[in-house]
Amino acid sequence: MQLALCTWSEVEDYLKSSTGIIVPIGSTEQHGPNGLIGTDAICAEVVGRGLGERVNALVTPTIAAGMAQHHMAFTGTMTLRPTTLIAVIRDCVVSLAAHGFRRFYFVNGHGGNIAIVQSAFAEIYSERSMALDGREPGDNWRGGIACTLRNWWLRPPVLALAKELYGDMEGLHATPSEVSLTQHVYPDHIKHVAMDPAPPATLDFADAFDFRRRFPDGRMGSHPALSRPEHGKRFLDAVVGDLVDDYRKFVAA
Ligand code: NI
Repeated sequence: MQLALCTWSEVEDYLKSSTGIIVPIGSTEQHGPNGLIGTDAICAEVVGRGLGERVNALVTPTIAAGMAQHHMAFTGTMTLRPTTLIAVIRDCVVSLAAHGFRRFYFVNGHGGNIAIVQSAFAEIYSERSMALDGREPGDNWRGGIACTLRNWWLRPPVLALAKELYGDMEGLHATPSEVSLTQHVYPDHIKHVAMDPAPPATLDFADAFDFRRRFPDGRMGSHPALSRPEHGKRFLDAVVGDLVDDYRKFVAA
């Protein structure tokens, strides 16, 4: 169920049975020679919505701009500063918490978001912790909020399938697994680009200019020419299946 497609009274009814909500978060950034700029947001969105269907949970609109400063030397990339993204996440969570939501299950599509999302959670928790002043917490929006982050491409069944399909050609960015998933979702937007496998990559880059110097076509150690829409369907089924119990446990805790 998409939050954006509900009425306010439907959301009010939903809150009588659950205070959990799924928040897809991605990025809008270059994804190499054949990857879509929206890859990370598309992947987070389809995984989040697929999970929402399976567990009957509300899914927020996707936070489609992430922390992608290192991709800014490639045309079309949009980024938020780390502090801006922290503020966006904080305000989205607090808005929903004011209405009664308490369990925020973030489905992430972008590695550059991980540290920032975790920092945003700490920022949200700090508001409650630092307001305590030796007293028990009152029953306001600060009470009992829990947030968690799941990175879809790092789930064990996804890693296993990527290893099976691509071996060492999966790489670190503009990977065949994420490109396959977008090809499954948007088959009319598959790009056929001739390329060789990219050389192995490490994550020790700095700013956008350093990133482009190290990774001239935007890939990090990957070979996304191996991407196939039918692979994308397998990744989607694998990750949604993996997250179902995990979501239920998180919301019940
Ligand atoms: Ni990506």
